[in-house]
Amino acid sequence: MRDEEARNILIANDRGGYTVPNGRVYPFQWNWDSAFVALGFATFDRDRAWVEIETLFKAQWTDGFLPHIVFWQDDPGYFPGPERWASGTDPLTSGITQPPVAATVVRALWDQGGVADRPRLEALFPKLMAWHRWFWRYRDRSGQGLVVALHPWETGRDNAPEWDRPGAAIDASDVAPYVRRDTSHLDASMRPTALEYDRYVALLDFGRERGWDHGRIAAENPFQVADVGLTMILLRADRDLLALAEALGRQDDASDLRERIALAEQGVDWLWNEEVGAYGSRDLLTGEPSGFITSASFLSFYAGLKHPDRDARLLGHLDRIGARVRYLTPSLDPADPGFDMMRYWRGPVWAVVNYMIGQGLAETGHGAMAERVRRDTRDLIQTSGFYEAFDPTSGAPTGGDDFSWTAAIWLCWAG
Ligand code: DGY
Repeated sequence: MRDEEARNILIANDRGGYTVPNGRVYPFQWNWDSAFVALGFATFDRDRAWVEIETLFKAQWTDGFLPHIVFWQDDPGYFPGPERWASGTDPLTSGITQPPVAATVVRALWDQGGVADRPRLEALFPKLMAWHRWFWRYRDRSGQGLVVALHPWETGRDNAPEWDRPGAAIDASDVAPYVRRDTSHLDASMRPTALEYDRYVALLDFGRERGWDHGRIAAENPFQVADVGLTMILLRADRDLLALAEALGRQDDASDLRERIALAEQGVDWLWNEEVGAYGSRDLLTGEPSGFITSASFLSFYAGLKHPDRDARLLGHLDRIGARVRYLTPSLDPADPGFDMMRYWRGPVWAVVNYMIGQGLAETGHGAMAERVRRDTRDLIQTSGFYEAFDPTSGAPTGGDDFSWTAAIWLCWAG
């Protein structure tokens, strides 16, 4: 029953070669949404799964950058639209990126399909490689093996409390007037605050005023955070890209990837917060650790990291949090005073993050906890439907409905 519903959501949100996350709230192609959506399509239409990723990479810039939004056609229901970004590209896009899950998804498609898909893999591989090199070059300028986010939207966890203190450095006092559209579709209590939006738009304007020159923006941006989510996800994706490089016999790329993986395995130490016993993001400009335990703290398993002492502390947190809320994994530790079960990335559970956490736990030998995370995801969707996110205490839906990546995760993992 739910399987058919999930497939129908993907089909209904298909705009011809790409899938919108949700027709009203997010009416364009989003980068990491599309990658997860491909996993859903792969369960019933493998060709369509590849096409989703191929379409996304048609919007890649010549420097390897892959935008977080592609505006294949305009839609007045979303702000900030293509005119505010003014990318000057064809197609028009945003000027910031998003978590690089695409290589991991392409590896999954390749593993499922095998040799018949080799021409498609050969065509995509250099594009994936160029995007990863873009991250290494522009988002790890000091070569620490980390990924620096220059906009909260790049992390995918838009209003996580990890951005509050670093965000205070953003001057949003003279942002040109704008009208939010998200709060005309959804209750404002589920969305970022006005101050957060002013900061998002100020950073957007900052990049546009620099002509989306990624080198210059990386040097001058007032917000520079080594994000635990992006760092773990890129490390995982580098490992998957390495497997693809080896399958294709691309020795030079494979050796660069090995080097970057080794660097990242060391670099993540800087994100370990011994005091709280968890990984967390860190402000690159001040060196200050965020001090928060979020769902991204548990992506170290997905990144393939094995560190018995740290893993034990992380599993201890999952046990504690899992005893406090009905559904793992809340996007913020429920013991935090700022925990808000309905507000976007300050409490709600997200199916895609659970997927990454669950996969990582299973792969690193923590089967019981992996199964709890998968079961909770299944129960949430079974009970409440294919929503954007869910209240971890009651399971109540939050955000948009008929959500593509929630449907995809049901099909490929949770259901
Ligand atoms: C939004 O508009 O809320 C998106 O998350 C930005 O990518």
